[in-house]
Amino acid sequence: MPVTDQAFVTLGTNDAYCHGALVLGQSLRNHRTSRMLAILITPQVSRVMRAGLSNVFDTVVDVDEIDSKDAVRLALLKRPELGVTFTKLHCWTLTQYNKCVFMDADTLVLCNVDELFDREEFSAAPDSGWPDCFNSGVFVFRPSLKTFELLLKFANECGSFDGGDQGLLNMFFSDWATMDISKHLPFLYNLSSSAIYTYAPAFRYFGKDAKVVHFLGSAKPWSYKYNLETKTVIEDCSTSLSESQRPFLELWWEMYSSSILPLLEKCQESHASEHQKEELDLSENQTEFEEGSLVSSYPLPMSVNTECVTETTADSCGKFSANSQLVQKVDGSHAIIVAEPSQSSTLPTVQPALQHAEETVDGGFYFGTCEKGKTQEELTSSISELSIPPEPEPEPPSAEDQRRKWEEGHIDYLGKDAFENIQKKLDSFLL
Ligand code: UDP
Ligand code: GLC
Ligand code: MN
Repeated sequence: MPVTDQAFVTLGTNDAYCHGALVLGQSLRNHRTSRMLAILITPQVSRVMRAGLSNVFDTVVDVDEIDSKDAVRLALLKRPELGVTFTKLHCWTLTQYNKCVFMDADTLVLCNVDELFDREEFSAAPDSGWPDCFNSGVFVFRPSLKTFELLLKFANECGSFDGGDQGLLNMFFSDWATMDISKHLPFLYNLSSSAIYTYAPAFRYFGKDAKVVHFLGSAKPWSYKYNLETKTVIEDCSTSLSESQRPFLELWWEMYSSSILPLLEKCQESHASEHQKEELDLSENQTEFEEGSLVSSYPLPMSVNTECVTETTADSCGKFSANSQLVQKVDGSHAIIVAEPSQSSTLPTVQPALQHAEETVDGGFYFGTCEKGKTQEELTSSISELSIPPEPEPEPPSAEDQRRKWEEGHIDYLGKDAFENIQKKLDSFLL
C-alpha cells in the first residue's frame, strides 16, 4: 500500500542536476518504494525537463532559489557553485508530508531503503571528510514551517561554515554527533564514492552491503561520457575514477540510457510538436531554418544512407556549425535541432550522427552531433558516446525582472532582499 504522508525528496536547480534526480527517482521506483517521490525545482529548469520529472515524481514543487552567496567559504570547499544548496531548506515546507527523507540528486539507491522512515528527525550518516559532522546528502526530517523559519533566521544570523547547506545544517542540528546514536545512519545509506577511493579495504569488506551510493564531489556521473555499445564509462582529462567507483557509475549510466533518455526524448518530441504548432507553422518540406529555433520534419530518405546524411549534415553544419544536431525519428523523418542553450541543455548527445533507426533505445529517436570537418569514415568508425552537455551560465536578472519577482512573492531572503538590506534601504529613505 502506498504511504501518502511520507516522501523521498530531492532538489534540482538546473537541468544537469535534474538528470541525476531522474535516475535517483527511477532507482527508488525500481526498488518498489511505497513512499511518495517529490522534487523541488527552481525557475531555471526547462519545460522538457519538468515534463520528464512529472513522469517519475509524484510531486514537482517550484521553489525560489536560495543562495548563500558566501564565496569565501565556498572557495575553501573548492565548490563555488554550491551556494544554491541553501535551496534545500525548502524541503521543510513540504508540510503535506509528516516525515521525509531528503536525498541529493547525485545519489542512487541500490535496494529498497524504506526502513529509513523508521528514524526520527534529524538522522543522517557521518561525513567521510569530517565524521563528527553528518553528510547532508541523505537525511531524515519532519517538514515544519516553524523549522523552516528558524533555519532561515539561523542562516541570516550565523551563515554556514562551508557556505552550503551541510555547514548550516550541522551548525543548526549541532548535537547530532553526541546526543542520540539512533540518529546516526549507517554509512551504507550514504556511501560516498570518494570514500571508496580513500578507504578501499573497507569498501572491499563492507561495500557489498551498500544501500545508497552518493557521487559526492565535483565530478558527477553526468560529467563523464558513456559508450553505449560497450556499456562503459569513459574517463577524460577532467574526470578520473577509481576502479571500485566504476560499477556504480556504470549502473547510473545504464539506468540513464535505458529509462531516462527515452523518457526525455518523448518529452522533447511532444514539446517540439507543441512548439511547432504554436510558433513555427512550418510546411512539410520547409528547408529554411532560423538560427536558434527548433526545426523539425526535415525530410530525408526513409532508409538512411550514411552518405546522404553526411552531405546533408555537412551542408547544415556550414550554417549551424558544430552546434546543430541531426535527429532521426523512427518513421525515418529527420529533424535538425540548433543547439541554443535553452533547447540543447536538456538532452545529451550521441556521437557520431550516423546511426540507424533500429539502434535507438526504446523506439525513440536519438541525437547525433554533426562534426564538421570529419570524413565519413572517421564518423562511421567512431563509437557511440553519450554525454550530457554542461549547464549554460544563467543570465543575471535585470532590475525589471527583480522587481517582478519581488511583486510575485519570489523573495531573495538571503541575498539582496535580506532583512538587513531592506533595513538599510529604509534607513536611507528616512535619514
Ligand atoms: N544542487 C542543485 N544545483 C546545483 C548544485 C546542487 O540542485 O547547482 C542540489 C542537488 O540536489 C545536489 C545537492 O544540491 O545533489 C548538493 O550538491 P552536490 O551533490 O553537488 O554536493 P556534493 O554532494 O558533491 O558535496
Ligand atoms: C556536501 C553534501 C552536500 C552539500 C554540500 C554543501 O558535501 O554532500 O549535500 O550540499 O556539502 O554543503
Ligand atoms: Mn551530493
